[in-house]
Amino acid sequence: MSNFPSDKPVLVTCGLPYANGKCHMGHLRTYVPGDIFIRALRKQGQESVFVCGSDAHGTPIVVNAEEQGITPTELVCKYHEHFKTVFKAMEVDFSIFGNTDSPTNHARTTSIVEALISNGYVYSQTIKLAYCPKDKRFLPDRYVEGICPYCGSVARGDECDQGCGKHLEPGEIRQARCRICGNAAEYREQEHFFFKLSAFKGFLSKYLETLNGTPNAINYAKEWVKDLRDWCISRNLEWGVRFPGHDDLVVYVWVDAPIGYISFTEEWANATGDDWEKYWKRDSRIIHFIGEDITYHHCIFWPAMLKGAGYTLPWAVVASGMLKIEDKKFSKSRGYVVWVDEDYLDHGFHPDLLRYYIVNYTSHTKELNFSWKVFQDKVNNELVGALGNFLHRTLHFAHKNFGGIPEGKVDEEIFEAIQQKIYQVVSYFDEYEFKKATDMMMELAMFGNAYFQQYKPWQLIKTDREMCARVVKNCLQIGKALVLLFETVLPGNMEKAWKQLALDGDVHAARFEDALVELPPAALEAPVVLFSKIEDKKIKEMESILDKRIKLAVSKEKKTKPEEEKPVISFEEFQSLDIRAGTVLSAENIKGSDKLLKLEVDIGEKRQIVAGIAKSHNPSDLVGRQVVVLANMKPAKLFGVESRGMVLAADADGAVLLMPEKKVKDGTRIR
Ligand code: MF3
Ligand code: ZN
Repeated sequence: MSNFPSDKPVLVTCGLPYANGKCHMGHLRTYVPGDIFIRALRKQGQESVFVCGSDAHGTPIVVNAEEQGITPTELVCKYHEHFKTVFKAMEVDFSIFGNTDSPTNHARTTSIVEALISNGYVYSQTIKLAYCPKDKRFLPDRYVEGICPYCGSVARGDECDQGCGKHLEPGEIRQARCRICGNAAEYREQEHFFFKLSAFKGFLSKYLETLNGTPNAINYAKEWVKDLRDWCISRNLEWGVRFPGHDDLVVYVWVDAPIGYISFTEEWANATGDDWEKYWKRDSRIIHFIGEDITYHHCIFWPAMLKGAGYTLPWAVVASGMLKIEDKKFSKSRGYVVWVDEDYLDHGFHPDLLRYYIVNYTSHTKELNFSWKVFQDKVNNELVGALGNFLHRTLHFAHKNFGGIPEGKVDEEIFEAIQQKIYQVVSYFDEYEFKKATDMMMELAMFGNAYFQQYKPWQLIKTDREMCARVVKNCLQIGKALVLLFETVLPGNMEKAWKQLALDGDVHAARFEDALVELPPAALEAPVVLFSKIEDKKIKEMESILDKRIKLAVSKEKKTKPEEEKPVISFEEFQSLDIRAGTVLSAENIKGSDKLLKLEVDIGEKRQIVAGIAKSHNPSDLVGRQVVVLANMKPAKLFGVESRGMVLAADADGAVLLMPEKKVKDGTRIR
């Protein structure tokens, strides 16, 4: 039995993007599957609504706005519009795309926090917080940098982002520094408010047993629930939703952000005359699509808040795995990023192609690698070679030989094949197995191609026109089923194909079961090709854009990364270094390495030294030159070659070798 349609209304949400930067491929891993899922629900006749919006609050937005010299509101508006435009272009069709800074969200957040307070789930406590004496302010979250108390890595105020990944509570970070002025912060006492998460342990343990969704989310949450810490839900900021009764505080962004799901539903209901309470106050199915990294917030914090304030609990949490770009970990700062507008849409690629790639590359919970080459292969072999080919050859043949859809019945076995595929697709959607669901669709296209090949209508037309009409009719019916199934993934192109089949009405509103309604005879126009091959040249061009960005990021990082401060050393410590001048006697490349050279240097004695200077120096240019060598470097083996000493060089763009001002006797000490 399928989960859908259900008599309970379904609310699908996608994690709210921070209105703080542009939309990239990583974002789409949540929004595209969410959109495909809701389209599949509609195609099963399920009453449903699809809600998302901008996450407007939090310190990164304030910090960024300050850096750009604009107000947080201006920054949020800019990216809010950006996301709306990109989602529209990518055919991600939310019922509403709201903004957590809206009056509705302020009001709903206030009301929920007040409910939590009056239900006894909030307490106050005086804690020590980072305070900048120079800027005369408390330093919440990203306003402070310091050392993670758990693993010792450099971390920001709310999260150990470069080390163990732990969420840090206010006041936990050590050796705090102010991000505005860079000075050491002091710790000052202040009263803050805590949400009693620990009181929900029993509830959450039971709840997680019934929560639907993907195993990656549920299993992590079951581990975390064993050790719950209360959450500090107030912050010293101007930007955000005022903490009830405390004008100097706002609520933590992770309180008002998910509440956006509720207020956007309210706003949508107000605009359409619907009822938001049937989703959030009564029995419904709330399904959250999120990235794996925000599982804690959705499976632990959010259900506890809803429970504490008396709202309907999420029915499922669907978490996508992480993203790689050309096999490297996604990273904006290192240049491994694909921007949806400038790196994809602006180059004329149709949104459908990327939508297909995102769901069909791998299972939703696994790591997805985006590679231009694989993208090209999948488009050319699957969308062009299988689906596009079948639709086109069928429509073309029908148009050319029959002027349209011929009379006659579709065979029962064809209907059976279609029905079975729809059943399989729907079952996989039920399990959030988008890869398998779309594989099943593609199987139907391959079945169609095999059927066409087997019956050879191009021969039949000469020998048995009636039989030929029957084969063509069957193929066209398979085509109709494909259009209905693939509409979820390829809405733009399937809308065109629907028209090519001379079908009336809106393909987006049609149902899967319409695939079993026989196509009526109709005239067809000559079909236009839907999917075309991507040329190698285009892919090379895209790869080189990414390449350039990565190289630029590397050189930027070198320039901006401040040299770590080294500890002061004594004269004795310096004296322990044996540094000498010496002449290079011979130099040669080391097999297997493009970076290393093997040198023989006379430093009063002959030494073999391996130096990482092959990229900047030709071996032959080095012979006879005097260099400076650290002679008491611990011996090491590099690529199997022994190295006893280190040639000193300035670390500029490539190595620049040090040399004495004028030639000195080999072995002369340097002090
Ligand atoms: N803006 C958050 C992020 O990108 C997600 C917020 S989701 C919500 O990580 F649940 F808080 F709405
Ligand atoms: Zn850490």
